[in-house]
Amino acid sequence: MYNIAVVPGDGIGPEVLREGLKVVRAAAEKLGFDYETVEYDFGGDRYLAAGGKEEPLPDWAISEFRDMDAIFLGAVGHPDIPPGVLEPGILLKLRFSLDLYINLRPIKLYPGVETPIKDKGPDDIDFIVVRENTEGLYAGIGGFLKKGTPDEVAVQEMVNTRKGVERCIRYAYELTRQRNKEKKLTLCDKANVLIYAHDLWRRAFNEVGEEYPDVKKEYAFVDATTMWMVKNPEWFDVIVTCNMFGDIITDLGAMIQGGMGIAASGNINPDSVSMFEPIHGSAPKYAGTNKANPLAAICAAGMMLEHLGEKEAAKLIDNALAAALSSGKIKDLSAGKMGMSTSEVGDFVAEMI
Ligand code: IPM
Ligand code: MN
Repeated sequence: MYNIAVVPGDGIGPEVLREGLKVVRAAAEKLGFDYETVEYDFGGDRYLAAGGKEEPLPDWAISEFRDMDAIFLGAVGHPDIPPGVLEPGILLKLRFSLDLYINLRPIKLYPGVETPIKDKGPDDIDFIVVRENTEGLYAGIGGFLKKGTPDEVAVQEMVNTRKGVERCIRYAYELTRQRNKEKKLTLCDKANVLIYAHDLWRRAFNEVGEEYPDVKKEYAFVDATTMWMVKNPEWFDVIVTCNMFGDIITDLGAMIQGGMGIAASGNINPDSVSMFEPIHGSAPKYAGTNKANPLAAICAAGMMLEHLGEKEAAKLIDNALAAALSSGKIKDLSAGKMGMSTSEVGDFVAEMI
């Protein structure tokens, strides 16, 4: 019996999570495992209703989450709240306080899904990005000097600890070995310019790599990585990279796998509770219209089950997604253009299970 914290959040979050959970239910019934969900209403509406008297994600919730097996999150972002409140207040707080040090982002083109890259298909686009998730430019260390004057200085530090970098790299090596595709791990960095930060990354990559003689090691600067992701995506098996670069290259990755409608991620602490979410935002324009694409949430649900150890269920969801997408019945992955409603897409994938 698993305990899953469900945080639907804002905008289309609730409707896409509902479909993700529908598919989890179908898999659980088929395979005979069980789980309970506890729903939390954190997000823009609750924050506004509290009138600034409560943090977007209070500490008591973090303590409750620690006792759960997984967190399933929809989306955060509210049209009446300026950027920079809910993102650090909910998403980054979850990542930092639960030490979710891996952000795992599979870039997989399902059969039947269109990619904007000419002449590339599912065999070419199938890799995973391991993004460091608790340090780098996201650490939030910095400050202003002479703010608001012509002499203003803004400093934002990039934090790289040997421990933080090494645990991320080690995770990536293990994943590459277990995935057993080409057993190739690419370090994506900017070691030619970030001569301290990414020198540490390279040394950690090489030193940890000695324990993985069976894994091929490659190096790619981040600018070249974006070029190859478009030109030769088949070169990649697993990519490991820092927080900021991982953020950027995975939006590019989402586009080559068919768009934000299908891109999912896991925010993982291998030794504790982890959080799974679609990469897309709250898309307030589509909230409550039953037009949003729930496939990213369904993919995130599959990742969650895989992480919980329900490998067979994850495989079942993956196969159901492939069957649903190759049927040609889902016309497009963009909201409002699927030729089906949000709930019909969920029903369709559940039926495939
Ligand atoms: C992501 C998002 C977040 C990030 C934002 C919303 C803080 O873009 O999950 O990729 O930058 O990590
Ligand atoms: Mn991002």
